[in-house]
Amino acid sequence: MANVSIQLKTPITGEYKQPTGLFINNEFVEGAKKQTFEVINPTTEEVICSVHEATEEDVDTAVAAARKAFEGEWRRVTPQQRGALLLKLADLVEKNLDLLAAVESLDNGKSISMARGDVGGVAGCIRYYGGWADKIEGKTIDISPDMFHYTRREPIGVCGQIIPWNFPLLMLAWKISPALATGNTIVMKTAEQTPLSALVFASLVKEAGFPPGVLNIISGFGKTAGAALSAHMDVDKIAFTGSTLIGRTIMKAAASSNLKKVTLELGGKSPNIVFNDADIEEAISWVNFGIYYNHGQCCCAGSRIYVQEGIYDKFVAAFKDRALKNKVGDPFHPETFQGPQVSQLQYDRIMGYIQSGKEQGATVVTGGDRHGDKGYFIQPTIFADVSQEMKIMQEEIFGPVAAIAKFKDEADAIRLGNDTAYGLAASVHTKDLNTAIRVSNGLKAGTVWVNCHNMLNHALPFGGFKSSGIGRELGELALDNYTEHKSVAINMAGKLF
Ligand code: NAI
Ligand code: MG
Repeated sequence: MANVSIQLKTPITGEYKQPTGLFINNEFVEGAKKQTFEVINPTTEEVICSVHEATEEDVDTAVAAARKAFEGEWRRVTPQQRGALLLKLADLVEKNLDLLAAVESLDNGKSISMARGDVGGVAGCIRYYGGWADKIEGKTIDISPDMFHYTRREPIGVCGQIIPWNFPLLMLAWKISPALATGNTIVMKTAEQTPLSALVFASLVKEAGFPPGVLNIISGFGKTAGAALSAHMDVDKIAFTGSTLIGRTIMKAAASSNLKKVTLELGGKSPNIVFNDADIEEAISWVNFGIYYNHGQCCCAGSRIYVQEGIYDKFVAAFKDRALKNKVGDPFHPETFQGPQVSQLQYDRIMGYIQSGKEQGATVVTGGDRHGDKGYFIQPTIFADVSQEMKIMQEEIFGPVAAIAKFKDEADAIRLGNDTAYGLAASVHTKDLNTAIRVSNGLKAGTVWVNCHNMLNHALPFGGFKSSGIGRELGELALDNYTEHKSVAINMAGKLF
């Protein structure tokens, strides 16, 4: 029997069985090349365990399993049964919430309170799409008395899904839920930095009763397994969340292989705009949450903070006080808000941006250094007086680094807010409803929050304008990513027109 699990421990759940194999056909298996890679705990920089690595050959095996399930057993499962399976899975996630959250904190470094929030969101998302499963409807379209026309919505087929490490379980749930609700099968590749929670989740997929091959989950690297999945000739659709750079690579791979359908959820540099008339205490709480939530490793992080002239100095001073109150440290401490960044590479990238902010002459209001001497911790950092062309105002940092600048009036705020290649999200803080609506309408972003930030929900579509992506996840719209519309035209006249 292959070695495909290990006993591990988390500080809050004690010992548990961690699967380490590739989850294909409802079984944990070794990779074809029997390669493994190490999984790092970002809090201690120590190795947690090793997991099996999927290579191109394993991607072929997983795709074949998904194809067989799609053409076979899964086709005969009714929409109502699909919905029931998803509801069962959501219940199992809730039943195992403590364990899933603890594994997430261990592997990713996110605080346990946020990990618990993520896992609650996972159950909510799966349940929401479980409800959609038997509500995927077509239309009848009246065109001629001699013809009968209707549309059907059919599953696309085998879906490749590639996710990042910032919300390992939540990104998995956002992708698998609409795909399964609409009757597709899946090969999901998790991020190499954070494979563990998805493998625990995989055992629940089997327990819920999904047929073998419907949802396959593999651990592996982007350049090998990810590239093989996006270029695969028998994968009908690819969904990706991650960097804009790799989003382009995936789109090219889809174009030069079989023109598989593509949806992309990419980077952001979201503006957080605070007007003179905002409730300043509330605005600061949201700005703080907007940039430091999940250690700034959030595609919709409010990383560009534009504050109107009249309150600028007061805002900067009060925001500093607020940021210093964020508890940084052990993710398993119940009061921790900010844990370590996910990896040495991300730590180095962020420190590089901090260095460039200093070199380009932005004012360090607070932070700007590592926190402690072990683990990938970075101090909550605020740069003020950041000019529009500085790197820290233009590029996605994906860390706990805020860049603040002044604006004059509404037109200025909209111009600055839109001065970016990205268009994922934005927020506006004001007590004036008319300002809020005009500015929301003027901003080119897939989501605009008014007097809040990062308020996502599985019922609300999410995705990007411009270079932030293609398509929308979540809500009813995500069902479109996973269905083909078929028009059927029936000639009732029985003669050639
Ligand atoms: P990445 O885009 O390289 O990785 C995301 C996923 O894509 C991982 O599963 C990875 O294995 C896979 N991947 C990598 N290369 C691939 C390829 N050639 N073909 C197919 N799949 C591939 O992102 P990375 O390096 O982890 O982070 C770099 C930056 O990307 C971050 O600093 C951040 O700015 C941004 N990012 C944005 C995310 C978002 O939520 N939109 C999530 C993660 C990163
Ligand atoms: Mg890790």
